[in-house]
Amino acid sequence: MRKKIVAGNWKMNKTYEEALSLVSEIDNMVKDEVNGDVTVVIAPPFPFLQGVGKLMQGNDKLHLASQNISEHESGAYTGEVSGAMLKSVGTEYVIIGHSERRMYHHEDAQTLYKKMKAALAQGLKPIFCCGEPLEERDAENHFEYVGKQLHDSLSYLSNEEFDQVVVAYEPIWAIGTGRTASSQQAQEMHAYIREQLARTFDAEAAYNTSILYGGSCNPGNAKELFSQEDVDGGLIGGASLKSRDFADIVKSF
Ligand code: 13P
Repeated sequence: MRKKIVAGNWKMNKTYEEALSLVSEIDNMVKDEVNGDVTVVIAPPFPFLQGVGKLMQGNDKLHLASQNISEHESGAYTGEVSGAMLKSVGTEYVIIGHSERRMYHHEDAQTLYKKMKAALAQGLKPIFCCGEPLEERDAENHFEYVGKQLHDSLSYLSNEEFDQVVVAYEPIWAIGTGRTASSQQAQEMHAYIREQLARTFDAEAAYNTSILYGGSCNPGNAKELFSQEDVDGGLIGGASLKSRDFADIVKSF
């Protein structure tokens, strides 16, 4: 059975002290209020991984993620962070292919494939992001667009590698805009993604893959989104920076 996952992507926010307070609050709320079987993933900025991870120890619902990974193993890559480094500070998941990295850092499909391999080689679980810009949605080309993103960065993985992958559908027009995809729009895209994965890998693997929705997800809309058959949780930006909102989203299953 696939996992229910709520992941908080803190992006480039918070100082170290603020990050520690936020994770402590989330830790307490999850301990006190969340009984169900849900995996809570927190992706702080690189310099906070170890400190935030330490405060999560002892809460088996909480798991640490990074927001990026180098495609290289080690060496002269100034400013980059390798999979082995991430692993050595307790990271379990890695967000790969976020639209902000595709856009601002020109990460293309080939680079993302290499990042997937780099993560998997270290036993890190990739959270692979896909999602179309508004003009592709308006041109009714969104399925093809997302299908190509999946094909270009995932289809060369082995079945064993693919078993470790989480997919996040984040329509770009919904990120940070307050404009959420409707639950029907999310469901039809998630079902399409699962169908594509079933073709590339196999039906059982696709069935067992968690597919998260991201884009202006908040405590007011999470319940309806998460109740869709193929929506297995969320990748949360803005609302993950407020402990109360994030915990309420975690409780939305
Ligand atoms: P928002 O929840 O702020 O729209 O961001 C979504 C996102 O990009 C998570 O990765």
